[in-house]
Amino acid sequence: MAEIDRVEITKELGKIKNREKAEAYMATVLSQVPDAPVDVQTFTDINDLFEGDGHILIEGKTGYGKTTLLLTLLKRFLDDGWKVLYRDDAGCEFGDLAKYFKTQIFIPEGEGISLTIRGFDADIVRTNSPKKIIDMTYKGNYPLNIIVFDAYVVNPAVSAKFFAKLFMQLIHKCQQTPRRKKQPLIFSIDELNDLIAPHGRGITGAHESLLGLFEVNTRKFRKHKVKLISTTHRFTQISINVRSQCDHIIVKKSYGADIWDFMSRALVTANNKTFWKVLRKVIAMPPNMFLYFDPNGHFDFLTFLDIPRDPNIDVEPLGVVEALEKDQKKIKMNVHTRTGQELYLLGKGWKRIEIAKLLGATPNAVTVDVYRFKARDINAKVHEMISTRTKKTEEE
Ligand SMILES: Nc1ncnc2c1ncn2[C@@H]1O[C@H](COP(=O)(O)OP(=O)(O)O)[C@@H](O)[C@H]1O
Ligand SMILES: [Mg+2]
Repeated sequence: MAEIDRVEITKELGKIKNREKAEAYMATVLSQVPDAPVDVQTFTDINDLFEGDGHILIEGKTGYGKTTLLLTLLKRFLDDGWKVLYRDDAGCEFGDLAKYFKTQIFIPEGEGISLTIRGFDADIVRTNSPKKIIDMTYKGNYPLNIIVFDAYVVNPAVSAKFFAKLFMQLIHKCQQTPRRKKQPLIFSIDELNDLIAPHGRGITGAHESLLGLFEVNTRKFRKHKVKLISTTHRFTQISINVRSQCDHIIVKKSYGADIWDFMSRALVTANNKTFWKVLRKVIAMPPNMFLYFDPNGHFDFLTFLDIPRDPNIDVEPLGVVEALEKDQKKIKMNVHTRTGQELYLLGKGWKRIEIAKLLGATPNAVTVDVYRFKARDINAKVHEMISTRTKKTEEE
């Protein structure tokens, strides 16, 4: 076999902007790689996933078992005594997990909003308040806490706003709780890409805010005993800043071009033969299999016994949330770090020196209206930040 140059492929893929064309290119490349059995074994220990520290990211094509694996992993963590806060991605597939644990389900307030559950028990709480959700999750006596929000939402920006608020509340709660009182919590987000990079709809201001929050705070969660377990159907929709903060990576059957960048980095030391074998297997493996990367970068193909499916279990959401009432008003939130703003501006191509000039060097909390970030309106945003800072200083 002629040696296929991985660097060259990365360059080529970088030039192709269209997703279908990228996959077509990848298919051509892969057709040149001879088929060979995969005998990779680097001896990872899957128990590290449960006993060890660190965040978990599950990636894979839609329909190849991410949610199922997520629920299966969560069951194990719940059995081990963890408390779980779970974001449903609108699929309402959590019944098979909820039937084992005392569960409360948060749904939006509003006329016509309802949730019918069959085959299991749960308490349903109607609220539009992320603060209440965080408080009730920590204080309540429910191991499993589920947020069903997206099943009622048409506009993805409404959902991103809601979860940005929730994320803020979680961070505040963590920062206000002394170390000895911290309770371990798993924050589980099925289809994280919905919230920080929506497919096909372009990134809204709310999504950018949430992405900034994620990039800055994910690492901090560790010391607050919060473990994140997320899924995504595209690797390329999760920024490298978020991805690199996940210690355990689980790859289910994937699109070749989508997984290329990750695999090139993760298998950078693997020889060419191994690399191609693993890649081929990842794009063709069955739904019950996955490729697991441990925190040291070692990997193995594994299978996992699924959570049993109960045909009597059913969850049906009804109703539509157009916008949360509070969104009509201006919502102010404290951002306790400048880094989020810096990241945001850096992402917009601002130079550090310009940012330093604009934001000053005061490490104090700055009040910004996080929901008014608009990608196209960066100057207005910066002016707003400056004027808010000035106002705050005057008040003090
Ligand atoms: N380990 C598995 N073995 C066999 N079938 C599975 C497995 N995991 C999931 N499936 C099936 O694949 C389908 C899609 O699974 P799901 O978890 O919803 O995927 P995703 O969340 O990635 O879209 C489901 O019908 C499920 O029953
Ligand atoms: Mg799913």
